[in-house]
Amino acid sequence: MNIIIKNNAFEINEYAASMVAAYVHNNPQRVLVFPTGNTPLGLYKNLNGLVARKELSFSSSYLLELDEYLGIAAHDQRNLFQWLKRSFIDQVDFPEDHLYRFQADAADIDTETRRIEQVIKKHNGIGLLVLGIGPNGHLGFNEPGSPFDSRTRVIDLTRASLESSANYWGDISVVPTQGLTLGMQTLSEAQQTIMIVTGKHKADILYQMIKGEVTPDLPASFLRTMKNVTILADKDAVSML
Ligand code: F6R
Repeated sequence: MNIIIKNNAFEINEYAASMVAAYVHNNPQRVLVFPTGNTPLGLYKNLNGLVARKELSFSSSYLLELDEYLGIAAHDQRNLFQWLKRSFIDQVDFPEDHLYRFQADAADIDTETRRIEQVIKKHNGIGLLVLGIGPNGHLGFNEPGSPFDSRTRVIDLTRASLESSANYWGDISVVPTQGLTLGMQTLSEAQQTIMIVTGKHKADILYQMIKGEVTPDLPASFLRTMKNVTILADKDAVSML
């Protein structure tokens, strides 16, 4: 695991965008997995700019969403694919049929999670995986306790995750209590992984992830066992290391 430290989030976002662009340049036809949340918004701004200036194109790439709220239909404001569309997809040039989303309101959710695994298999695995880290060390919606051999599935969201998601939607009462997520094993098979960690509020969890034991109780610690992982962190995020 490689850790790259920059002065601030601005520099991290520029650097992350250059890493994504280099990956896409060298691997134009692979599946790219992107998260939602506040962390990647600066990355998306940079990627949108690169595409607008024709310095980058996703026209041969595929996008797969990392996680989604269970039962939340495509048109719902809280649908995470909508979030990705608003902040990123609508500004860049993925072909429509290269976009893979969870059908979170599918009648048969087990068939849906298997479908997502088949999509990944059909494309020879995840190419580039971009991650944030949750306040409790969750990866996607893989909450503490997620087995390292887990695959795409439904998961109950923890109180800590509901509270952090409440920041997105105004009140905890409107945060869905279950999610769909690519599993730990599924994520571990990515060819390359970038995790972005910025801000003082992430310093403690980043410290635990790097210095603590590798345990399902802190899903992000699993990154220490994976190949080709880069942590991009700003000075605030590494302030406890
Ligand atoms: C979102 C996701 C989550 C976030 C994490 C950090 O798709 O997968 O694991 O990456 O909760 O969220 P922010 O970036 O808002 O701190």
